[in-house]
Amino acid sequence: METDKHCSATDILNLATGYWQSCALHTAVKLDIFTVLTHECECRSPAEVASLLECDRRGMGVLLDALAAMGLLEKNGNCYNVRKSVKRFLVTGSSEYLGNIIMHHHHLVDGWAQLDQAVRSGQPVAKRSHGEEQERASFQLGMFNLAMAIAPKVAEQIDLQGRRHLLDLGGGPGTYAIHFCQVNPGLRATIVDRPMTHNFADKAIHFFGLQDRIDFLGGDFTSAAIKGEYDVAWLSQVLHGYGPEECRRIIAGAVESLSPGGLIMVHEFFLNKTKDGPLFPALFSLNMLINNPGGRSYSEDEISAMLTENGVRNLKRLPFVGPNDSYVLCGTVS
Ligand SMILES: C[S@@+](CC[C@H](N)C(=O)[O-])C[C@H]1O[C@@H](n2cnc3c(N)ncnc32)[C@H](O)[C@@H]1O
Repeated sequence: METDKHCSATDILNLATGYWQSCALHTAVKLDIFTVLTHECECRSPAEVASLLECDRRGMGVLLDALAAMGLLEKNGNCYNVRKSVKRFLVTGSSEYLGNIIMHHHHLVDGWAQLDQAVRSGQPVAKRSHGEEQERASFQLGMFNLAMAIAPKVAEQIDLQGRRHLLDLGGGPGTYAIHFCQVNPGLRATIVDRPMTHNFADKAIHFFGLQDRIDFLGGDFTSAAIKGEYDVAWLSQVLHGYGPEECRRIIAGAVESLSPGGLIMVHEFFLNKTKDGPLFPALFSLNMLINNPGGRSYSEDEISAMLTENGVRNLKRLPFVGPNDSYVLCGTVS
């Protein structure tokens, strides 16, 4: 029998104010405080940072203290600097920069404040106001930030020896296609995504010098057949954007594009069998409810059933585990 886990008033209050820390971090990234504190000078007073960023001195002072309390900055006297272990993630220009995905999370905040509406109606909440261009850029570059933390490890761990052509379905900026191609010299890849994603993918492909091996097909994969023939299909963080019926159709389309013996891989934040955990996939379902008409996190059993119905065999979970409990389920078609 499961024992009741002790929950104190402090635990509840910490849950209630958890977003304060998120908002402090979002603001520091939005104002680029970590970059200013690193590049301009190793240590700055609140008055100096406020002046450099055209902010109020009192406002900057309390923000810097809060960031120090959160363990992101160090304070010596009246001087603040960025903790060494933090710089690689929060200073602009670092290959491990997470600022774009943090800005994407910032753009989600006002939707989360309307969660009650989404729960009442079962529909996404009203459109918000950060500007379509800015939101799209943070989303795509944010996907790039996240995937850059995972793709090198995934590509090293997945055996694609002998495979020739990879479909990166809903590949966004193509981070995974890029890393699979880097690790497998005989492989080429096609990213299929919405046309508006093309320039993000182009930039990433050119940055890694892979324009001869990776191409981009713009289109909507829910309304048109996927062009081309592939021997690997990679679906990373795509299915959670759709309801179960659409997921079945998307998987059917991917399977259709594979030659016999083709490998299909699904990378998601998987829920457990009872869907009451792990925490991140469970909360991610709420994020989909707020922003998307049918999407949610799925359990491994649910995705396995969809793959099996579409003729995928030899299903297995790969040993890789990413941040936020993501992992990869794969199988082959006959
Ligand atoms: C959450 S992102 C994942 C990006 C990438 N696979 C990754 O893991 O980093 C989902 C991507 O799927 C694309 N997408 C979703 N539905 C699509 C559709 N119907 N047709 C084309 N692309 C779609 C989005 O534009 C977005 O780039």
